[in-house]
Amino acid sequence: MINVAVLGYGVVGSGVVEIIKKNCESISQKAGQEIRVKKILDIRDFDDTCPDKALITKNPEEIFGDDSINIVVETIGGAKIAYEYTKRALECGKHVVTSNKELIATYGPELLKIAKNNNINYLFEASVGGGIPIIRPLNRCLAANEIYSIVGILNGTTNYILTQMKKDGKDFDVALKEAQKNGYAEANPTADIEGHDSCRKIAILSSIAYNEFVDYKNIYTEGISKITLTDIKYAESLNASIKLVAMSEKVGDKIVARVSPAIVDKDNPLYNVEDVFNAIVVKGDAIGEAMFYGRGAGKLPTASAVVADIIEIVKHWGSCGGYDWNVAEGSNVIDIMETK
Ligand code: HSE
Repeated sequence: MINVAVLGYGVVGSGVVEIIKKNCESISQKAGQEIRVKKILDIRDFDDTCPDKALITKNPEEIFGDDSINIVVETIGGAKIAYEYTKRALECGKHVVTSNKELIATYGPELLKIAKNNNINYLFEASVGGGIPIIRPLNRCLAANEIYSIVGILNGTTNYILTQMKKDGKDFDVALKEAQKNGYAEANPTADIEGHDSCRKIAILSSIAYNEFVDYKNIYTEGISKITLTDIKYAESLNASIKLVAMSEKVGDKIVARVSPAIVDKDNPLYNVEDVFNAIVVKGDAIGEAMFYGRGAGKLPTASAVVADIIEIVKHWGSCGGYDWNVAEGSNVIDIMETK
């Protein structure tokens, strides 16, 4: 029996518990051992309508002090408490699975090293692209390639807003409220709107693809807060759409990277990526071009990727599939404008 603890019973955390309960039999069968959620950590009060109330505790010691808990799921978000708890879990030999891109983008090298030293896993498939399989495919299935570039729509909230503005002429604020109601947006949606979320995601993908840590703080980032209905109509008159595009490309020993709104014309595969969907186009020297597409945010799609990581750990129990990110001295990133 594998006991899982979930830290943070928010949109994604509650989705993880829901999927493990709903698909318990097939998940356990695929993993080769029975998997159950033993405890949930959340400081909020839940009433009797909460289906998992009996599992919820406010006391972290009930998790860190319980040796029978083998895997910790961190869905708290942010890089403060989540950092402390992740470090603590890894140091006491518990595998950690997360959807927390801010934490990976900020403390990835340090946390991955702790995991490696303790011969355990720190997996983060859900941190980029929601339910789209991208981290493991990039790291494993495309391992034979020299990766040239990654271009994608990596934020569901902003893509939803831009789509609603274009299709229904909705106001930015109305579309944002809908995205929040659907559980797509971050707790503080500024991270979505100003492009920081996309920036952290392209930094994570680039770190994997180019096999060196790419610090998101060095990537030029511009969000969609200045985009108006007039801009959207103008793009339409050109047979195009405005999208928040994140890109990176290996140029010599540098990585050219950027997040900004872009006019994407009808022939571009990103043109048809609408609403909460994300898409990532990867170019490699052997595969040519591959595109990954699916729901980039939301409760069950994101939880789907978290639970897949849990299954991966249990299936390969005892082996550690860590990442090694070399941290370059100085910045290894340049803006695309510097190459023109
Ligand atoms: N706020 C994020 C998004 C959630 O909208 O894409 C998924 O990472």
